[in-house]
Amino acid sequence: MSENYNKHKIYERNGKTYAFSDTSLQRIKEIIGRYPEAKQKSALIPVLHIAQEEFGGSLNADIMDYIAGLLNIKPIEVYEVATFYTQFYLDKVGKFMIEICQTGPCLSCGGDDMIDYLKEKLGIDVGETTADGLFTFKTVECLGACGYAPVMQVNTCFHQNLTKESIDNIIDLLRTQANEPKSNDDKWVEKFCLKK
Ligand code: FES
Repeated sequence: MSENYNKHKIYERNGKTYAFSDTSLQRIKEIIGRYPEAKQKSALIPVLHIAQEEFGGSLNADIMDYIAGLLNIKPIEVYEVATFYTQFYLDKVGKFMIEICQTGPCLSCGGDDMIDYLKEKLGIDVGETTADGLFTFKTVECLGACGYAPVMQVNTCFHQNLTKESIDNIIDLLRTQANEPKSNDDKWVEKFCLKK
């Protein structure tokens, strides 16, 4: 595995270069190491998450091919997984991916009003990204937190018992956070969580 790993540390195509940071490569190496030799495909989902964090919040064919090389599997095996799970984004998304639950328990607790309010507040429809590139807004099925309905997820962070006021606060804080200077280690995922 180490030979293959070193060979695929950097990926170039069509004049673009993709390379995981040393920290991410270390994480990937550790994850791959959990599985027996020749079973490194088992590491695919966590590696896709790391890639999505590292490369700006979405995946493209080049990135998926890069991962296929790292894991020594066929590109189609990566495409199959990345296109199946809704947690992976194949189109460019905003810095903040808002996914709000549209399943029954959330809707019966006012989720439909929250969906309408988000549309109005962001000035976009479901599936769209704001013109400033900050917010992409999607509706999703049950987020597994029905007891706290209505619920939305902003990248990896959950926001529960939503009201119009709490949505205002979340959006305002995220806008402020987006304008703060970032360190070199600042990853896409970290930008999504409100600082405590
Ligand atoms: S129905 Fe919304 S979290 Fe389960």
